[in-house]
Amino acid sequence: MTTGSLLAADLVIAVLAAAGWLGGGAAAAARRRPLALGLAAFALLATLARAVTITALARAGWWFAAEKVLVAAPLSLAAVAAAGPRLLRAPADIRSAAVPLLFAGYAVSGGLLVTVLHGYPASAGAGLLAVAGVVTATVVSWRVLGRRPSRTVSRAAVVVAVAALVTGTGLAAAPGAAPAVPHDREYRDARTAGEPTRRFTLTAGTATVNVSGRDVAAWAFNAQVPGPELTATVGDVLEVTLRNRDIERGVTLHWHGYDVPNDQDGVPGVTQAAVLPGQEFVYRFRADQAGTYWYHTHAVSDIGVRKGLYGVLVVRPAPVTGVDVTVPVHTLDGLPLPAPRTEPVEAGTPVRLRLINTDSTTHRYALAGTPFRVAAIDGSDLRGPTSLVDTAVLIPAGGRYDLVFTAPTTPVALFVDGRAVYSTGAVPATPGEWPMLDPLTYGVGSPVPWTRFDKEFTLVLDRGLDLSGLLPRYAHTVNGAADPDIPPQVVRLGDVVAFTIVNRSQVVHPWHLHGHHVLVLSRNGKPATGSPLWLDSFDVRPGEVWKVAFRADNPGMWANHCHNLAHADAGMTLHLMYS
Ligand code: C2O
Ligand code: CU
Repeated sequence: MTTGSLLAADLVIAVLAAAGWLGGGAAAAARRRPLALGLAAFALLATLARAVTITALARAGWWFAAEKVLVAAPLSLAAVAAAGPRLLRAPADIRSAAVPLLFAGYAVSGGLLVTVLHGYPASAGAGLLAVAGVVTATVVSWRVLGRRPSRTVSRAAVVVAVAALVTGTGLAAAPGAAPAVPHDREYRDARTAGEPTRRFTLTAGTATVNVSGRDVAAWAFNAQVPGPELTATVGDVLEVTLRNRDIERGVTLHWHGYDVPNDQDGVPGVTQAAVLPGQEFVYRFRADQAGTYWYHTHAVSDIGVRKGLYGVLVVRPAPVTGVDVTVPVHTLDGLPLPAPRTEPVEAGTPVRLRLINTDSTTHRYALAGTPFRVAAIDGSDLRGPTSLVDTAVLIPAGGRYDLVFTAPTTPVALFVDGRAVYSTGAVPATPGEWPMLDPLTYGVGSPVPWTRFDKEFTLVLDRGLDLSGLLPRYAHTVNGAADPDIPPQVVRLGDVVAFTIVNRSQVVHPWHLHGHHVLVLSRNGKPATGSPLWLDSFDVRPGEVWKVAFRADNPGMWANHCHNLAHADAGMTLHLMYS
């Protein structure tokens, strides 16, 4: 069983246990003896079963189990101790068992709420609040059911509840690290890259675009979705003038995967101010990395990118030989882009397909009709990529794969999630359940260039209640906090930095660090054995633990976030900062 499915199973069992105890308690109060005994017996089994799931999770990593061991397990023990004996005695007057059964239900629910609303790291504050809730609910039930607890018991309960509530609130509200991202920096557009050799102008505006015969209200660069394809040759100096015609919420250009100087990175509030209607901003940087990249707005990025403010950036090492096609995949108002296209290619011609996932979720790509190699991922060439056939690749949100092959005499077709998007002739049948390429074992390995790390950070990805803003929200969190309250990771120029990224949530988080490519060291404790993988976007699936490292060689303040942009907007954004 994977850690991801264990997390899900544990959650389901906890919900069933809580429901069983509460249902049993209610049935007992209603004098429905068999129902009460049945539900309670079921709940008892479920509660005991959690000993197995929680132990297994703790063995997979403390991050997955901390609050379950420290809060849910003691509460479950209390539940079993209070309700178990009643159940075994199966009293004739079942109503006398109602309060113990309800108590067990509150206790198990308390533990569950701590997991769902608070998560990692476990805190004494959350534990005490749960205890206060359980005690209060039990005392109230006792009174409602008309069986007065003795004076001593109710006094003790009030003392425990109040003490737990006061300490718990105090601890939970203790000020965390203040957001250290300065928002009063001076912004400039750098003219330091040299004389431009490639000039582009991108004008952002609302536009109606036609997608497979339907008119869609989009936000677009130069009235097209995707925006114009920007191409350059290594060594060029790019100058891109961004204008905003009428996007009220502002726009910027972020060069996804391109390790530009910090002041060209396009993150509003961090590296520049958002460009408002009527304004412009000039980006200039040297194209010194070859490969497949893309650009997109970083202002209200979730909405902006989804509505169409993105495009392709390709930097080639030399003029194109053969066929070189970019396939940026996007979902615009529910409609898949690009439109399918067929282009005959003469047999023997070298073909490069540059696959780009500009959506917020993973896509599955399958190339049918030819053996192929994955030449590059996220712009970096792979070492010794072997020939693949009938193999699919999963590209995370923001990620890019370059597939290369020599055109055969028969047609070749590229499928995205089962839909043909590009072909060189009549489209062959949809590929079936092909095996998935694991990039961590693909190509030829080489030793990790570092033996020690100057800085190590752990990012535990989860969900939790965020009460720090004006309105409470159910945020996507990193180490229990949500943007802007996640402390930045501070490094010095030249540091070798390692990140351990742990996903204890139920959804995939495509992780993306700006300004740097990270080398994948391991996944779930297993070292990467294939070609060195220098990534800027990688899927951390539920229950997974990725360890990656990089050299801090690009000073500035860099966004470090989930590229499911809805998650990033809902709290899952932090910053890497050079001291
Ligand atoms: Cu592609 Cu911070 O983004
Ligand atoms: Cu995410």
